[in-house]
Amino acid sequence: MQKIRIERTAHPKQKPADIEHLGFGRYFTDHMFLMDYEEGKGWHDPRIVPYGPLSLDPAAMCLHYGQEVFEGMKAYRTPEGKVVLFRPDKNMARLNLSNERLCIPQVDEELAVQAVKELVQLDQDWIPDAKDTALYIRPFIISVDPHLGVHPAAHLLFIIILSPVGAYYPEGLNPVKIYVERNYVRAVRGGMGFVKTAGNYAASLKAQDEAEKQGYTQVLWLDGVERKYIEEVGTMNVFFQLGDEVVTPELQGSILGGITRMSCIEMLRSWGYRVTERRVSLEEVVQGAESGLLKEAFGTGTAAVISPIGELKVDDKHLVINGGEIGPVAHRLYNTLTDIQNGRIADPFGWVVPVDK
Ligand code: COI
Repeated sequence: MQKIRIERTAHPKQKPADIEHLGFGRYFTDHMFLMDYEEGKGWHDPRIVPYGPLSLDPAAMCLHYGQEVFEGMKAYRTPEGKVVLFRPDKNMARLNLSNERLCIPQVDEELAVQAVKELVQLDQDWIPDAKDTALYIRPFIISVDPHLGVHPAAHLLFIIILSPVGAYYPEGLNPVKIYVERNYVRAVRGGMGFVKTAGNYAASLKAQDEAEKQGYTQVLWLDGVERKYIEEVGTMNVFFQLGDEVVTPELQGSILGGITRMSCIEMLRSWGYRVTERRVSLEEVVQGAESGLLKEAFGTGTAAVISPIGELKVDDKHLVINGGEIGPVAHRLYNTLTDIQNGRIADPFGWVVPVDK
C-alpha cells in the first residue's frame, strides 16, 4: 500500500463553540486528504495537507459535465475515548461501484480506508461529543482535465474532508413530513440512481425546493417509468411496516444501496422480523395507511441515521402514520444503531472499526 505523506497545518482553526447547534456540513476541520490520478501513472501522491481551497481550471470537466462521485460516512468517539468508524469497507466498495458507472478509475479500497483513518486520527479533536453528533466524512472524486469535450477524464482528484455534524434534519428523531412526488423523477434503471454522484442530487433539487415551500422535509420518489412504485426519500432509503412484514424497495438499478439500509435489514432479521426487499407500490402504502395495516414508516441514511415518517402527502391526502409519532421499530433501530456506532454497547455484528489499527 502507498504511504500517505502528512503535512500538518501551522494555523489550527477555531472549533465551533456551540456544539449543540452544529447543523449539518457547515464546519470543516484542519486537514484534508488529496490523491491525484493521471492516465498511465495511476493514483499517486496520497497526502494529508492543511484544509483549504483547491486551485481548479475553470474548464475542469467536473464543473461542466458532473463526472464526480462521493461517499458519506461518520467517525465517533466511544465512552472509553477510542475513535471508531462504521463499516468503512462498505463505503469504499460502493465508491468503486460509483467509479465504475462514472468511468472513474478504481481506487485501492484499503488505501482509501487507511486515508480516512489517518485523517480522522489527525483531526480527532474535532469529533463533537454532544448527543447525536459525529464527525461526518466526505470522500469524493472529481475530474480535473481542462477540456470541454464530453469524454472520461484522464486526470482526477480524490479528496476527503471532515465536518463535525449534528442531526441532518432539524426535526432530529421527531417524525418528518414527506411529500410524494408525482411530477419529477430522480432516476431510471440504466441511469445513475444506484450510485452516489452529484447529478442525482442536482436532479432532486427542484422537487425538494417545492416540497420545502409547502412545509415538507423531503420528497418520496416514485419509479421513473410507471410512477407507481416507491423508490427512496431525498437523502434516505425507506422502510414500511405493513402488518408483521417490514418492507423496503428492492435494489433494482435506480435506488441507492445504503449502508444504513443494509445494516437495518441485518439488525431487524437478527431480531426475528420478517424483512422483505421487494417492489412496493404507492397504492399498497396508501391502502395500508387507510386500513391500519401500515404501522410505521421511516427513512435510513448515514446523514439522517433513522428518521421516522409521521406524515405522507399523497395528492390531496395527508396520511398520518402511527399518530405522527415515532414507532417502536424505528426507535429500536435508532437506539441500537447509534449505541453500536458510538461504542455504548458491544457490537455483535463486527461493524465498528477503530481508526488506530
Ligand atoms: C449521506 O447520508 O451520507 C448522504 O450522502 C446524504 C447526503 C446527500 C447528505
